[in-house]
Amino acid sequence: MKTLVAYASRHGTAEKIAHLISLELEQCQVRLLDLKHENTRFDLADYDNVIIGGSIHYGEIQPSVKDFCHNHHGELMKKGLGLFLCYMRDEIAKEEFNNAFPEDLQNHAKALGYFGGEILFEKMNFVERVVVSTVGKKTENEFHLDEEAVESFIWKMNH
Ligand SMILES: Cc1cc2nc3c(=O)[nH]c(=O)nc-3n(C[C@H](O)[C@H](O)[C@H](O)COP(=O)(O)O)c2cc1C
Repeated sequence: MKTLVAYASRHGTAEKIAHLISLELEQCQVRLLDLKHENTRFDLADYDNVIIGGSIHYGEIQPSVKDFCHNHHGELMKKGLGLFLCYMRDEIAKEEFNNAFPEDLQNHAKALGYFGGEILFEKMNFVERVVVSTVGKKTENEFHLDEEAVESFIWKMNH
């Protein structure tokens, strides 16, 4: 079995999850694809499973994740598929997920990952710090990753 884990991450949280997933997949040869640095057009022919993940900033997932889903839509509908998202606004997570990934890909997926996220001030630039502290009303780092959701996602991809 070959699995591609394609992800985009701004401050490292979705990246960390992508690496964790890649380590926990059973009986799989895994290729990690960082969509920030690699082409969003990729030959999926060899892969049985594809996992796609990203994070929400200013209400949107990374454009590279949207491009990847768009460019490979037909092929993705024939793969064992997993979709995951990192975010901090739990109250609108479903809405953000629906905006991030097309409905038919969600319906086709074996696993949907609502993982929560982290606030890491040391990784932010000046503008982000101002936005997160004034609009987001946060003053220090926060860690809200849902480890059970990650484990459940991996279990579903393995079965
Ligand atoms: C500048 C900024 C804007 C953000 N905007 C949103 C948002 O609109 N909605 C949300 O749910 N989370 C938002 N977040 C939280 C991120 O999704 C969260 O920090 C996530 O863990 C980032 O993952 P990454 O490091 O993989 O990019 C924002 C975070 C930052 C720093």
